[in-house]
Amino acid sequence: MVELWDVSKTAAAVAAVGKVRKGMRLALGGGTTVAAALDALRTAFPGGFGLEIVVASEATAAEARGLGIEPVPLAPDARFDLMLDGADEVTPALALTKGGGGALFREKFLARLADEVVIMVDTTKLVDRLGTRHPIPVEVVPFARPVLTRQITALGFAVSLRTSPDSGRAWRTDNGNEILDLKPLAPIDEPARVDRTLHELTGVIETGIFVGLAHRALVGQPDGSVQLLERPASP
Ligand code: A5P
Repeated sequence: MVELWDVSKTAAAVAAVGKVRKGMRLALGGGTTVAAALDALRTAFPGGFGLEIVVASEATAAEARGLGIEPVPLAPDARFDLMLDGADEVTPALALTKGGGGALFREKFLARLADEVVIMVDTTKLVDRLGTRHPIPVEVVPFARPVLTRQITALGFAVSLRTSPDSGRAWRTDNGNEILDLKPLAPIDEPARVDRTLHELTGVIETGIFVGLAHRALVGQPDGSVQLLERPASP
């Protein structure tokens, strides 16, 4: 049986792939919605049609290869016409929480190189403020983790180390780092400020707070329709 969220995510992914044109330079993030987009890409562009695709995680690379799509390495002068990615939380201003799959550093890195960033989500991801339903992932240097855990706790977050379900040990990102999942005492009013504060701590590689990066979000609905959200113009 197809779950409703599958219908929603697939609808968002298919709508996002509708923005892809042959020969585009594409960036893809990670997660199940990106996997749905890969599937839609394979259907819409059999043989590739000159698309150049850079992916943000080893998992996405493996999924792409499984569908016969070979990602290209990141070039020194990489720029992307379009980045398609999922998210864990999306606010009306299109601030995002990302990194549920741990690929937040590469996702943010690629998003900053993209002319247009389109986020594909289902309705469960919509929140008024970040930190409402999903913890904020932060990628940290393993050596620094004990001190960072104390420092971030002192900033008012409940901090938990992401562990591998198999070994129970610290889970490692594709960059060899660890993830701390942060629960704020209350949902975050000023995500950009929180992002800056966390970046002031030496050993923080990247946060899962994405502000000012997404241009639009495609929100798949349980009936298969798709709602478009655009980032409001800056005041
Ligand atoms: C990967 O690190 C994440 O940023 C994902 O984009 C995010 O967790 C959304 O994943 P799903 O598309 O699987 O919900």
